[in-house]
Amino acid sequence: MKSYSITTLNEFIIQRQADFPYAKGELSRLLSHLGTAAKIVNKKINKAGLVDILGESGEINVQGEEQKKLDVFADQTFISALQASGEVCGLVTEENQEIITFDDNLSLDAKYILMMDPLDGSSNIDVNVSVGTIFSIYRRVSQRGHRAETGDFLQPGSRMVAAGYVVYGSSTMMVYTTGKGVNGFTLDPSIGEFCLSHPNMQVPEAGNIYSINEGHYINFPDGVKKFIKYCQENDPETNRPYTSRYIGSLVSDFHRNLIKGGIFLYPQSAASPNGKLRLAYECAPMAFVAEQAGGRASNGHQRILDLTPESLHQRTPYYVGSLQMIERLEEFIKESE
Ligand code: AHG
Ligand code: MN
Ligand code: MN
Repeated sequence: MKSYSITTLNEFIIQRQADFPYAKGELSRLLSHLGTAAKIVNKKINKAGLVDILGESGEINVQGEEQKKLDVFADQTFISALQASGEVCGLVTEENQEIITFDDNLSLDAKYILMMDPLDGSSNIDVNVSVGTIFSIYRRVSQRGHRAETGDFLQPGSRMVAAGYVVYGSSTMMVYTTGKGVNGFTLDPSIGEFCLSHPNMQVPEAGNIYSINEGHYINFPDGVKKFIKYCQENDPETNRPYTSRYIGSLVSDFHRNLIKGGIFLYPQSAASPNGKLRLAYECAPMAFVAEQAGGRASNGHQRILDLTPESLHQRTPYYVGSLQMIERLEEFIKESE
């Protein structure tokens, strides 16, 4: 009998294994390994101002973007932890152009692959603003016992087995779903454990926060411009004008909107004709979490989870959050075409 009232992440994962009667515990073990790697990354992020790990690494990543030293650290930490777990045959991360495959016997035989943004919002790291990690897990389609193949990573989001994120904020949280609701765990630094703090998270259907980088307004599609105007109009019945909040870190913006109710928008613009965010390891995992919490995610026309990436680092316009807000936005986009 337990003499304490908290539920740790690992206890919760084990309890929930019963949801999948034929499961052999591989997914459970994989999620625990992710939790451990997140604690290592968290420790480094907490010390960011104290040691020489802030700033640029001097390298450019596959997106042509500058890598921060912490991007590289987070990337390497997750890759090593996942290889050591033996539960994935390969992974794709924002920081690596090609797929990474593991060729030890345990990993070759693993049934899952993982896609991740090891450090999201890294341009915020030097100014002490929350950053995150995003991950998604799929069953491989290639044969077990062999190396992972590119096709394992180009599956529609609807085939995702699990997804989640870690937000390294004023407290550190891990939020994930295996397709049976969304649960959030807060890291208790005194015992070094993620503890269940947000069971069965639900995003309010009608939010009142909109989150967008309005600096690019002039280049937004007309439907998005009309939606922004709608957010700013006076209408006490629908709680408008809405509040504008934008951190510039998808994980943090999403997390706030998940709890309070809101919409996050990253449309296409002249500078980024396909939007900025990456379908496979930023948009789709957050879409799975949003849907599991009763929200919605769209590219303006289609459900994000219905899209099949054609390339690993493909971008997409992205809208995610409260159900009614996404529906309203989609109406504006349709009317403007
Ligand atoms: P990353 O740090 O992984 O490259 O992602 C940054 C992304 C995302 O977190 C955020 O929503 C968006 O970039 C912000 O873009 P803008 O600075 O153009 O608003
Ligand atoms: Mn990112
Ligand atoms: Mn990143």
